[in-house]
Amino acid sequence: MLELSGLQKTFGETRAVDGVSFRVHRGEMVGIIGRSGSGKSTLMRLINRLCEPTSGEVFFEKASVTGLKGKALRSWRRRCAMVFQQFNLVPRLDVITNVLVGSLAERDVFSALAKQFPPELRARAILELDALGMANVALQRAGTLSGGQQQRVAIARAMMQRPDVLLADEPISSLDPINADLVMNSLKRLNQDRNLTVVVNLHSLDIARRYCSRVIGMASGRVVFDGAPALLDDNCVDRIYASGAGDRQSNLAALEQVAV
Ligand SMILES: Nc1ncnc2c1ncn2[C@@H]1O[C@H](COP(=O)(O)OP(=O)(O)OP(=O)(O)O)[C@@H](O)[C@H]1O
Ligand SMILES: [Mg+2]
Repeated sequence: MLELSGLQKTFGETRAVDGVSFRVHRGEMVGIIGRSGSGKSTLMRLINRLCEPTSGEVFFEKASVTGLKGKALRSWRRRCAMVFQQFNLVPRLDVITNVLVGSLAERDVFSALAKQFPPELRARAILELDALGMANVALQRAGTLSGGQQQRVAIARAMMQRPDVLLADEPISSLDPINADLVMNSLKRLNQDRNLTVVVNLHSLDIARRYCSRVIGMASGRVVFDGAPALLDDNCVDRIYASGAGDRQSNLAALEQVAV
């Protein structure tokens, strides 16, 4: 179980995350929605310690991860994999090598690239790609793939870490609707088949409704809704999207989704 307790992060005057507490049970698929600037990315970065909280704590299986350092911190980051809107693949390397890199600690990457990856690891990489319908492009250069394919490769790379939790920060924001569905279906399948805990930041309320068993709505760094998608009535949607500061352009896009 992942537990956030009174998490707060301020940047100067900005309260990016302002007293967030909730628990995520193993095997849940949680969608985090909110206007641009509501604190979704910061919250994710706090969970996997890419950023340090001003106050509050994150626990995983009852142990605090907030104070972890060195080897223990690296181990937490392995258990808590993350994928981003920008797929962050190395375009000139083939797909399988991009995936294999996910199994390595950062400092080992270059030495491993200079040598051969062991056959067992290559076999696992193929299995991870196959689970996402991507084994057929294993030898293709990553830069030649479509955005949706690249995101699925990025997910396969994250899965090489054998994570307990997968954090996805707007994984479909740069994709067309068909590719967005492919990627969301991939996340859902990993969630269901492997009991993987998935926390995914989404701009689209509609997508959150369709794929997530639970939705957390954020506004101005706070949780203003937490429950099943079916409970998201107009009042809740107003609370999530109509209050607080935000980036107007992105909010208009989100509000269009709400209106559908
Ligand atoms: N490194 C930083 N330095 C200063 N301010 C920051 C930093 N990171 C985030 N912020 C501020 O914190 C607030 C929350 O930002 P965050 O990126 O978490 O929002 P978000 O919900 O992910 O937005 P979006 O939907 O646009 O990705 C914003 O006001 C942002 O400007
Ligand atoms: Mg963000």
